Parts: sequence; structure tokens; C-alpha cells
Amino acid sequence: DHGCYPAKYPWFHEGMFNTFDHASVRRGYEVYKQVCAACHSMKYTYYRHLVNVSHTEEEAKAEAAESMVTDGPNEEGNMFQRPGKLSDLFPSPYPNDEAAKAANGGALPPDLSLIAFARNNGTNYIFSLLTGYQDPPAGVETKEGLHYNPYFNGGWIAMAKALYDEVIEYSDGTPATASQLAKDVTEFLRWSAEKSHDEKKKLLLKTMLIFPPILALFYVYKRRVFTVLK
Ligand code: HEM
Repeated sequence: DHGCYPAKYPWFHEGMFNTFDHASVRRGYEVYKQVCAACHSMKYTYYRHLVNVSHTEEEAKAEAAESMVTDGPNEEGNMFQRPGKLSDLFPSPYPNDEAAKAANGGALPPDLSLIAFARNNGTNYIFSLLTGYQDPPAGVETKEGLHYNPYFNGGWIAMAKALYDEVIEYSDGTPATASQLAKDVTEFLRWSAEKSHDEKKKLLLKTMLIFPPILALFYVYKRRVFTVLK
């Protein structure tokens, strides 16, 4: 049972000279935080990662401070709770995998930090998965506790459809249609999987700009050195 292969979508960041669409990453963070984070951890992502990507430093600090973090031991040897800081990881919804499975009918919601690379054709796949929920084909029996989605391997996924029109409101006023929500959270997860993407591209651009002058220099040098061998 193989199901559907995702269509290829025109992701902004796939343009040769494009960075991520940072406004989209920011909206995608809002989707993750308000919808996906109820079940999925992103335990390799720090609040500091948001700074100058989707948020200002002040905004990222405020986001961090919304989560309570267990720290310690303090001088009395006790663990204690404090508001999160930029140096803290995103909080996980469950204390461990067992608790996560117990809450999701035995299925483990995978950590989403690297999911865009952990799945084949991840960016197109995540968008297709999130928007791909539908009724099973005629004659196909429904499965208790599972949801039909032809993009998921096997067609039956333990995750229910999570994105509906207006399920959240965007802070920038963008109409929050289901497909807009899916696109933005996918861009956010793609950013998360390769947080150095923009820097790498800028470096490539600089490298390409410096290459022709260096080549020209070598050519002049070569002419000088070999001038006697005409
Ligand atoms: C699986 C994304 C919301 C529960 C997954 C997978 C992705 C994903 C990419 C992996 C599918 C695969 O293995 O190929 C998201 C996103 C969400 C979201 C982006 C928010 C928009 C939720 C919510 C819940 C949930 C709210 C719980 C109520 C699960 C579970 C699985 C899963 C249990 C494992 C499914 C299985 O193995 O059958 N999700 N998810 N997800 N998700 Fe979500």
C-alpha cells in the first residue's frame, strides 16, 4: 500500500537566491505553538533560535518566558520552576514517550525539530499530509482510532486532521485558511530542520562573486610566469 506521492509546491526558499520566507516562518511558529505543540515536541529547538529569524530578541524572550522550566538544584539542593529564557529548549508536551503514546492511542507523535528532513521530500510531504485528510475510498472500511490520509504510508494515520480554516488567528492578520496554516507551519518546520540555510546561501553567493576575480588574477599571473615560453 503506497498511497499518494506529494505534489511539488513552489516554496519561496527554494529559489536560488532566496532565504526562508521569514513572515511565513513566524506565522508557522504561531501554528506550531497553538496547535501542534499540544502533541509534538521540538526538543532540539531553542528560543534563541527564533531571534532575528521570526522574532526580535525582546519578542523571543517573551515567548520563552511563557513556558515554565524546571531548573536546579538551587543552594538548598531543590529543583525549582522558573520562566523560560532564550537559552531554554521548547517545552515538550509529555514527560516521556510512554506518556505520549498513552495519550495518542498507542501512536507516538514524532519530534518535529527535524521532521522536514526525516521524511522523503519532507517539505512537500508535510504540506500534503496536513491538507490531505479525506474520506476513505468507497468500499474501504474505516479503522477504529485512525484517520484516512493517502499521503501517509499505509493510508491510516493516528493523528486526526489538525488544521481547519480559522483554527487560530494570525497576529499579522493573514487570513488563516487551512492551506495557509499548513503552508506556514511547513515553512517553519523546514526552517527548523536547517536553521543555517540562509547563512549557507549567503556564503555561496559571496563565494560565487569572488570566484571570477580570483580566476582573472590567476590568468594574469600565469601569463607573466610563462611569458618566456611563448
Ligand atoms: C504524526 C505533523 C498536530 C498527533 C505526525 C507527523 C507529522 C505531524 C509530520 C509524522 C507523519 C509520519 O510519520 O510521516 C503535525 C503538525 C501538526 C500536528 C505540523 C500541527 C499543525 C498534531 C496534534 C496531535 C498530533 C494536535 C494530537 C492531538 C500525532 C500522532 C502522530 C503524528 C499521534 C503519529 C501518527 C502515526 O504514527 O500514525 N504529525 N502534527 N499531531 N501526529 Fe501530528
